[in-house]
Amino acid sequence: MLDRRQTLRIGALGGAALLLPGGARGAVARAADTPPFSLPLVVPPVKRPVRRTATTDYYEMTMREATAQILPGVQTPVMTYDGCFPGPTIRARPGRRVVVRQRNALGTEAVVHLHGAYVPADSDGHPKDPIAPGAFRDYVYPNLQPAATLWYHDHTHHMEAEMVFRGLAGCYLLDEPRWTGPPAGRYDLPLMLRDAQFDDQGGLVFTMGDARKRTVLLVNGRRQPYHPVAARKYRLRLINGANTRYFTLGLSDGRPMWLIASDGGLLPAPVRATGVTLSPGERVDAVVDFADLAPGSQLTLRNTDPNIGQPSDLMRFDVVRRAYDPSRVPPRLGGSRPDLGPATVHRDIVLGVNPTTGMSEINGRSFDMDRVDQQIKLGQTEEWRVVNSDVNPPIRHNLHVHGTHFQVIDRNGVPVSGHEAGWKDTVAIPNGGDVRIRVRYERYTGLYLYHCHLLDHSSMGMMAQSEVTP
Ligand code: C2O
Ligand code: CU
Ligand code: CU
Repeated sequence: MLDRRQTLRIGALGGAALLLPGGARGAVARAADTPPFSLPLVVPPVKRPVRRTATTDYYEMTMREATAQILPGVQTPVMTYDGCFPGPTIRARPGRRVVVRQRNALGTEAVVHLHGAYVPADSDGHPKDPIAPGAFRDYVYPNLQPAATLWYHDHTHHMEAEMVFRGLAGCYLLDEPRWTGPPAGRYDLPLMLRDAQFDDQGGLVFTMGDARKRTVLLVNGRRQPYHPVAARKYRLRLINGANTRYFTLGLSDGRPMWLIASDGGLLPAPVRATGVTLSPGERVDAVVDFADLAPGSQLTLRNTDPNIGQPSDLMRFDVVRRAYDPSRVPPRLGGSRPDLGPATVHRDIVLGVNPTTGMSEINGRSFDMDRVDQQIKLGQTEEWRVVNSDVNPPIRHNLHVHGTHFQVIDRNGVPVSGHEAGWKDTVAIPNGGDVRIRVRYERYTGLYLYHCHLLDHSSMGMMAQSEVTP
């Protein structure tokens, strides 16, 4: 039973937002009324290691409360890694180990999970391994996997929805080796997308399951920012960091993007698209080219998800200068095509809300961290038929699997295409329909979670665990 839905208290700050100098009563209302695109985009700072050895980069981070200017002129209390909202970016390389010491200076337990990473089970951020207030934990990330856009976020038992909503999320980019290819450096932009709801004082309002009121759209922790760009190609690392919102992303003038990477890293070849849909937790890397635009031009990144009615703008790109552009999108990107071969084990995974109890469940059971839901043999391919049974009323769900990437075979019998044909760790499951995936664990044994990544659902029990055995 879910009985510990405590309310998180933002202690030191008393929960109330602080107004910036010049602010007064009504500042929040004025902020809400300011036109979109009045704040610049923040690119989260890249974290520096405290120490490097021949094999390993060591980092130290502190989880603590802070304030962030999400709305113009208002400081909102948030939960952060290192005071940043979202957290600082870690840039790592395949084959080079990273160790992150996470100190917990929050007034509450916390756990850090690196989403999309292959890590030993005791570094996966399982909710059974919380960091107590005042304590720390060293997470070891071997990075023995292809380059990819990963992200880290909280995974505290029953609390991940609220703690991620309040700010505990950041980017972890496993970079390709230097090569002449997609835009790099300042032309490689991580964009963490999400939504939020505020009270009259500018504080974040979290109500479990009440996603319809989260109508303010944030990119990298700011409401509808603008970003000055050069007339050249950019790599946008699009990360759906929202608790429950889906994004169908495209540019306002309908220009195409080249999708070059999925959750698991580079695709075999770029895919041209004018729109791409991401459910919570999914990532896609898209290259967009502004070269044909004169300085002074503006366009927006917009969400046209059919569930929202009107398209809504997430951020604006302002073309401010011309630029030399040596980057390119090569016809072969070097990513592998998922092919796990035939499966030896078949399973049904049913996601649904129990109509009598209201609990979110997988195969009729809500999460119990002391129960192993299934055992998987290391090195064996399994095929899972994942079903979303919530037809009436329709409720969206997806499936995220920890500790590996999977191959998506088909959705409602139709083979998937675009970025979904690449390696994935999160996939949308249609109402009343099914998705077949093939899953294999290659390296580590132990407990790995799988769950709906609409975090309000996982926090309410739509989560289970596999024990990977030798
Ligand atoms: Cu990004 Cu278990 O989640
Ligand atoms: Cu994960
Ligand atoms: Cu769900």
